[in-house]
Amino acid sequence: MHASVIEQPVGEIQADALVIGIHEETPLAGSAAEIDGLSGGQLTRLIEFGEIEAERGKVTSWLAPAGLETSHVVVVGLGDPATLDRGAAATAAGSAARLLAGQKRQRVVFLLSGDWDEELVCAAVSGAVTGCVGQDLYRAEIKLHPIEELAWQTSHTAAVNQGLLLGEATNLTRRLVNEPAGFIYPESFAEVAAKVAGETGLELEIWDKQKLEEEKCGSLLAVSQGSDRDPRLLIVRHRGAGREKPHLALVGKGVTFDSGGLSLKPSESMKTMKCDMAGAATVLGTMQAIASLGLSCHVVGLVGLVENMVSGSSYKLGDVLTARSGKTIEVLNTDAEGRLVLADVLDVALEQEADHLVDLATLTGACVVALGTDVCGVMTNDQDWCDQLLAAAATCGERAWQLPMFPEFASQIRSNVADIKNIGEGRWGGAITAGKFLEEFVGEASWIHLDIAGPAFQDKPKAWIDAGGSGVMVQTLVQLAGELAGGEG
Ligand code: BES
Ligand code: MN
Ligand code: ZN
Repeated sequence: MHASVIEQPVGEIQADALVIGIHEETPLAGSAAEIDGLSGGQLTRLIEFGEIEAERGKVTSWLAPAGLETSHVVVVGLGDPATLDRGAAATAAGSAARLLAGQKRQRVVFLLSGDWDEELVCAAVSGAVTGCVGQDLYRAEIKLHPIEELAWQTSHTAAVNQGLLLGEATNLTRRLVNEPAGFIYPESFAEVAAKVAGETGLELEIWDKQKLEEEKCGSLLAVSQGSDRDPRLLIVRHRGAGREKPHLALVGKGVTFDSGGLSLKPSESMKTMKCDMAGAATVLGTMQAIASLGLSCHVVGLVGLVENMVSGSSYKLGDVLTARSGKTIEVLNTDAEGRLVLADVLDVALEQEADHLVDLATLTGACVVALGTDVCGVMTNDQDWCDQLLAAAATCGERAWQLPMFPEFASQIRSNVADIKNIGEGRWGGAITAGKFLEEFVGEASWIHLDIAGPAFQDKPKAWIDAGGSGVMVQTLVQLAGELAGGEG
């Protein structure tokens, strides 16, 4: 995909399609007014007839408009201009791009209002880049055709380029999640990371099984021991600031397939468990974005990659594991594997001595019960740091909601035979007991846990994005990294 900037007047634009936005209770302005003029007032009439609506989220195809070279104009309702934010800009552009991607298109021109600032432009471009790419990776006849060139009528050239990089990084995360477990497993995920590192200048360290054994990652290794695929731990680094210690460490759960292990999942719940490496994919996508944008911060990403399988060598219920930190863990459910993987990765992350930690994981079904499929669960031991992340998420239009970390929940994971056990006393509050388990492995570090089990993988498409991997939290984390960089000038 390409993104470019154009300056021609509307009448001279050559494109397969145009995209314009209209506001509620506001007279047509800018390019929309120009197009209306060229078409002899057709747009005004269509709006009067109620055929085209300005309500936010409405997207209408206006075919073969009179007086225009272009066969297709997509009119996007933007609602009230006063409340137009980055999320709305992204979904508006994404909806238009997704609609147009229904067939092959060389060049689509987005006519933006002149008063959109860099941030809105960047969000719109990113939204369009994700909107026209789908999960149909293995269909002979694809349903969404990525638009070859996205041209933007704006003066914010740098923002267009940034939006493209951000959108492409989000698409990397989405593609990794959408790839079946037969293609993306620990070793092949590491190969993708190596390719990304080569292209963007990220540093990459890969720990194989032998190294993980040397490092005494007994908790992560136990999860992987039932699989024919060997585990990996990756350390990806962007050194965009001249300081030794990272501003930020990002930690991702990379269970490339979660069968549940001996606590086997029912078939219905297992169907989408290729998505259980979404935390790791989010870390890699975010790292790609941070590097390609050249942010002046030092960020390190760590991902633990395993397959949770059933075999004669699977870890068992009642097993006691010794995590890298030295803590012992009683396994009472092999399907609560994500926290076992993260226990060791968090311990490695602590050695990086980053100012702040964020982990991301498709950790619990309980979080989906609590918050639904569009909201990330947020847990923390540092409220100021958490507030900063929640603000960044709001800025980006990503939904995140904090869950309490009351000490009572920790008593649920006490064990009679080991230091802790890997499940709570019952299923209630399961997202929080999982968060409390992770907290045992972050020491005094400033830490946030994001449970992305709901939003990371969508069963149904939305107007602005296909179903499957969503790339949720990439934008928020890039925003956060940018703020940490900015904080030092
Ligand atoms: N990967 C799952 C959580 C999940 C559920 C992700 C739905 C995406 C969508 C996780 O490993 C898991 O199986 N969690 C168990 C924990 C339980 C055994 C304490 C769960 O949520 O049932
Ligand atoms: Mn599981
Ligand atoms: Zn899992």
